[in-house]
Amino acid sequence: MNSQLNLLDRCRIVDLPRIMDPRGNLTFIEAGGHVPFDIRRVYYLYDVPGGASRGGHAHKELSQLMIAMSGSFDVILDDGLTSKRVHLNRSYYGLYICPMVWRELDNFSSGSVCLVLASNHYSESDYYREYADYKAARGLGV
Ligand code: TYD
Repeated sequence: MNSQLNLLDRCRIVDLPRIMDPRGNLTFIEAGGHVPFDIRRVYYLYDVPGGASRGGHAHKELSQLMIAMSGSFDVILDDGLTSKRVHLNRSYYGLYICPMVWRELDNFSSGSVCLVLASNHYSESDYYREYADYKAARGLGV
């Protein structure tokens, strides 16, 4: 692993298509089109209590796209070198997170829903759950 690689530059907002309609707007996501990986799993976070935070881990190989389907929340991305906070509050923006990026989610608004499209099935062995382990794997020491 090249420790100097800035992984946060690879994480980006994906502008999803919008069909505007006075009856209500529509957004769609097509495999192979809007997401820079093959989607193998979909999950969502909901009923998040006020003040709670989620995440607090990195994935070894998993790519993800996060969307605020309802309400809003923040995603803090950290590659061991730098970190940045991304506020998601629109259902037509997806945040692409590449592998090996530490993330935390907080500042959930009441009733918010976080949809996650993922490149693989759930596997606990794909996680770094200790920040020190993650930094070591990035070759950045503790
Ligand atoms: P985790 O990925 O740590 O959640 P978050 O990053 O949103 O805080 O997962 C929380 C728990 O749910 C953990 O015990 C693993 C389980 N889980 C599954 O069984 N399948 C899944 O697809 C996901 C994402 C989690």
